[in-house]
Amino acid sequence: MTIEHVPVMIDQVLEQFDSIDRFELLLDGTLGLGGYSEAILDRFQDVRVIGVDQDPYAIEIASSRLARFGDRFIPVMDNFSNISGIVGGLGFDHVDGIVFDLGISNMQITVPERGFSFRENGPLDMRMDGGRQDGISAGEMINQLSAPELSDIFRVYGEERHSWMIAKGIVRFREKFGPILDTFSLVEAIRSSLPAPAMRKAKGHPARKVFQALRIVVNGEMEALKEGLDGAIEVISPGGVIVVVGYHSLEDRIVKWKFREWKDETEGTIMTRKALLPSEEEVERNPKSRSAKLRAFMANIPM
Ligand SMILES: C[S@@+](CC[C@H](N)C(=O)[O-])C[C@H]1O[C@@H](n2cnc3c(N)ncnc32)[C@H](O)[C@@H]1O
Repeated sequence: MTIEHVPVMIDQVLEQFDSIDRFELLLDGTLGLGGYSEAILDRFQDVRVIGVDQDPYAIEIASSRLARFGDRFIPVMDNFSNISGIVGGLGFDHVDGIVFDLGISNMQITVPERGFSFRENGPLDMRMDGGRQDGISAGEMINQLSAPELSDIFRVYGEERHSWMIAKGIVRFREKFGPILDTFSLVEAIRSSLPAPAMRKAKGHPARKVFQALRIVVNGEMEALKEGLDGAIEVISPGGVIVVVGYHSLEDRIVKWKFREWKDETEGTIMTRKALLPSEEEVERNPKSRSAKLRAFMANIPM
């Protein structure tokens, strides 16, 4: 099966890097299927790209896709929270551009065995690193946490209005039928916990927010983003550019505040006063780009 990932807001991403004076090295913190890295390697012929992903399958697929660039492409399997370790470990002091395209890739959603999809049945896993770090899976979380703990997760990370009803419903489902082991059982537990009017009013799939919340917590996404941004400002060259594309308000809030903090600390300039959004045409062509927001920051060149 070939899995396509249409890179989101790629033209706007590339444009941000046009303003770098001496552009030689970029770190793509979320390599995925290599869509951004490929576009960057094609457009900027003197640039080398370090492509980071914590998902071994992403590294494998992107490496074969980008093999034609030879040693201009350097794949690294790691968490982007370790940016400075990655850059230093390769023997570099700085990188001139950094890009993060947050969340999960089409490959991760499309393969049912990864357990990210509420539309396909698969084991409740959701670990982006495929369990390499022995982190807790979504299934362990769903089956071990109490109703108040689950409700907090759904409310905070899914912004789910019916978090308490769903959490109680999941616990009831567990008591009645035993552990919830696959994605379809979880969807059923969610459906059975919501009254008909709430189901009718739900925008999109009724399980969407719960799946988002679980994915964020299982992968420690918010902590990784904060650490990744802290690392990014440490390793960015003077005059270098950091670009972040996020897909929900929790991510965007972290990026917006980090950029403001850097500006106040006179680290550089916010290039996007307001977040850039995909064009209507892009959203029509690729509905997954609908919620994307792009923010960019340029590091100061010391006088
Ligand atoms: C939206 S996809 C990126 C798609 C990519 N821009 C492309 O065009 O193909 C996000 C990727 O980032 C990876 N990822 C998410 N959080 C990560 C983290 N903290 N460290 C390393 N990789 C991460 C995921 O495994 C996934 O492959």
